[in-house]
Amino acid sequence: MPLMVLVPSIIVSLLVLAPSAVTLAPQIPSIASFQPSSGPPFILTPAVRVLVDPSYANTGSPSLIDFANTFREDLLEMSGFDYLPSVVPTSDFGIGVAIYLTLGAGNYSLYNGEPTEEGYEIDISSDVITIKGTGVLGAWWGTRSFLQQAVLGGTPSGFMTIPAGSGWDAPGWEVRGFMLDAGRHWFETSFLTDLCIYASFFKLNEFHIHASDNLWDPNWLYTDLWPELYSGFRFRPADGSPNYGVVPQLNDSWSQTDFQAMQTGCAAHGVTIVPEIDTPGHSLAISQWKPELMLAGNPDQLNLSYPDTIPTIQGLWQEFLPWFTSSEVSIGADEYPSQYADEYISFVNEMSDYIYAQSGKSIRAWGTYEPSDTSSISKSVTIQHWDFPGDTIPVQLLAEGYRVINSEQTFLYLDGKTSDGDEFPLSLNEPLLWSGAPGGAGWAPNIFSASDASNNTYPGAPGLRGAIFALWEDWGNNATDPWEVYQQLARSVAIFGEKTWAGSGVRSTQLTAGTFNASYPVLNARAPGQNLNRAVQPAYGDMVFSLDLEGHDFTTSGPVTTGVQSVAPPYTLSFAVTPTSGTGTLFRGEDTALLVQNLTFVDVATNTYFSLPFSLPLGVPSVVEVHAAAQYTYAIINAQGEVYWTTLMDIWGERMQLGNMSFPAPALTIGADGFEGAFGLVQLRLGA
Ligand SMILES: *[C@@H]1O[C@H](CO)[C@@H](O)[C@H](O)[C@H]1NC(C)=O
Ligand SMILES: *[C@@H]1O[C@H](CO)[C@@H](O)[C@H](O)[C@H]1NC(C)=O
Ligand SMILES: *[C@@H]1O[C@H](CO)[C@@H](O)[C@H](O)[C@H]1NC(C)=O
Ligand SMILES: *[C@@H]1O[C@H](CO)[C@@H](O)[C@H](O)[C@H]1NC(C)=O
Ligand SMILES: *[C@@H]1O[C@H](CO)[C@@H](O)[C@H](O)[C@H]1NC(C)=O
Ligand SMILES: *[C@@H]1O[C@H](CO)[C@@H](O)[C@H](O)[C@H]1NC(C)=O
Ligand SMILES: *[C@@H]1O[C@H](CO)[C@@H](O)[C@H](O)[C@H]1NC(C)=O
Ligand SMILES: *[C@@H]1O[C@H](CO)[C@@H](O)[C@H](O)[C@H]1NC(C)=O
Repeated sequence: MPLMVLVPSIIVSLLVLAPSAVTLAPQIPSIASFQPSSGPPFILTPAVRVLVDPSYANTGSPSLIDFANTFREDLLEMSGFDYLPSVVPTSDFGIGVAIYLTLGAGNYSLYNGEPTEEGYEIDISSDVITIKGTGVLGAWWGTRSFLQQAVLGGTPSGFMTIPAGSGWDAPGWEVRGFMLDAGRHWFETSFLTDLCIYASFFKLNEFHIHASDNLWDPNWLYTDLWPELYSGFRFRPADGSPNYGVVPQLNDSWSQTDFQAMQTGCAAHGVTIVPEIDTPGHSLAISQWKPELMLAGNPDQLNLSYPDTIPTIQGLWQEFLPWFTSSEVSIGADEYPSQYADEYISFVNEMSDYIYAQSGKSIRAWGTYEPSDTSSISKSVTIQHWDFPGDTIPVQLLAEGYRVINSEQTFLYLDGKTSDGDEFPLSLNEPLLWSGAPGGAGWAPNIFSASDASNNTYPGAPGLRGAIFALWEDWGNNATDPWEVYQQLARSVAIFGEKTWAGSGVRSTQLTAGTFNASYPVLNARAPGQNLNRAVQPAYGDMVFSLDLEGHDFTTSGPVTTGVQSVAPPYTLSFAVTPTSGTGTLFRGEDTALLVQNLTFVDVATNTYFSLPFSLPLGVPSVVEVHAAAQYTYAIINAQGEVYWTTLMDIWGERMQLGNMSFPAPALTIGADGFEGAFGLVQLRLGA
């Protein structure tokens, strides 16, 4: 461009910009209100101090200072600074830049007018940022906004500026959550904790864990194979407990210590775990333990009229209620035959009373069509709506005075890897969420139907508590590995943060698909406290490591260690190898292993094996390339064609469906577990 044109345009923009104010970048979820001011921005330096108002430092559990400490750790990680001063309880801002956390913000309301502790105010000047929560959780969410702004407005080198101004923010709904089916699929608490930490960056506040269920296949369920059909019950009873037999495999259950560490880790990030034990349907684990409890001919349904059934269910809750810190638990209670409506309703009400009497907690149940002329479910039970029309009609429930959570499957159900007849997408259907409500509006917790406006309500409807989207795992352990589960959840969690915090058509500041898309990749990549992306820093270019192992004697010197645990797809792992025995491990990392035998990929978390239909020849050099992308992993052996690692999913006994597997690279150790033979050049590169 000629200088002649540039000079006047610079002058013009300086004139316009000099006194003007810069506003915040579009964070996820959007902030309710922000007024930029014309002062200089806040510039983050390694000298920044996190200060906590001493009058509130110990308020709450986790307390304001606990949240401040977690915030400081996140700041350290995200800024890339080598050091940050410790958190100090003081109101003396001193000299230099500071971030001050305090309470006493205005009394903000949810859209339904009820007060919320989750609001906060933020005030940004060049030397101090004040984050003032209504309650401690509000202050915590304010720190998430600050961190998002720091990375959205900053440079990758960590020099971050935040525009001056002030604003307030508060959620539109109380319940903003996601559910994972941990009954049909085993998940380790470390992975689930990381999901909480990730979701917390987008201000989701609930993780609903569906912790008991079974696979469904009539060829097993309704034949004498039912005792062998896979079921899960994840809370491990204490030694000597009368409930000991309810867990089909003890290694696929959470100890009280592990569960509570997860619960604490989630709470430290503002996320409440809402546990679900699903009865009287979906209860094969209980029938496999006590067959006399089943409804005759239906091993996954319990007979509520059988004298020992309800005491058994209550005995389970009695043992596990003391584990849980949430004020609510879910008793499931979905998909029970409607001919037993009265028994069902009386069961739900009895459980509500029992759990309240035992623990002071209230209960949630999935919406279930149970017609009865004589009884109705207690209004103290929150109904989690998921299905028209077999379920109850949510606007009618609200009108009758029930409290409702929206999990309507049209918008909010996902299934692992695939779903029967492509009924559900892999991740939330974004066009539907941005504009799929009647009249082209966006989805929000008050929207239950995409086509029939009479089934929807307004954002402030009394009793409408919020929404939870659900990832089911209908095909069990071998359909998906944790990395694939995270990929299904990652974008959805962020969009759901926006839609349950701000809604649609309420606030002028709400995000659009365009502003969401612009911010999401940065926020996903920089979300602190976990590395679900399995991101690594390459040694140079796209090369994670390149090792010439020729001459390394694995028998005498043992495996080679790289220092890199696990690397997400897309990657290419190439290696020359001469195995002399059919056993042992080629590569192993925290997520996966690759065995010599049949080049089997092992998903370490579920201990599931995915083999190729042949093995490498023994005593002969082979050159193997493993190529992995988001949707698949394949090998090329001695430059001969692509062989995919696949799984076979049992689609409700109707058919076996082939699916690809996407595996993180097993990167930490090479030639382990008794490997015999030799390696040559081993290279791990980013990119498939
Ligand atoms: C918020 O409400 C409480 C209780 O009604 C009241 O004591 C407090 O002063 C209010 N705070 C503000 C900032 O309005
Ligand atoms: C349920 O249990 C009751 C009481 O034992 C029994 O009379 C009834 O036949 C059982 N129903 C079914 C369907 O199993
Ligand atoms: C809407 O609600 C009516 C009852 O009010 C119900 O019969 C119908 O199935 C619902 N339709 C949709 C599309 O949700
Ligand atoms: C946002 O990103 C999604 C996923 O990449 C894409 O399908 C969609 O078209 C994008 N929308 C806009 C408005 O950029
Ligand atoms: C638990 O043990 C069973 C039986 O040995 C095994 O099949 C399963 O893979 C194990 N699960 C895990 C997660 O290790
Ligand atoms: C493993 O490879 C052998 C041939 O090397 C083959 O016969 C066998 O079927 C393979 N096993 C599996 C589980 O694919
Ligand atoms: C995966 O598990 C299903 C049971 O849900 C089983 O039928 C299938 O054979 C398994 N597939 C593989 C590849 O192990
Ligand atoms: C696996 O992925 C490849 C490459 O995208 C594709 O051609 C193949 O159809 C996929 N297989 C299955 C079973 O989905």
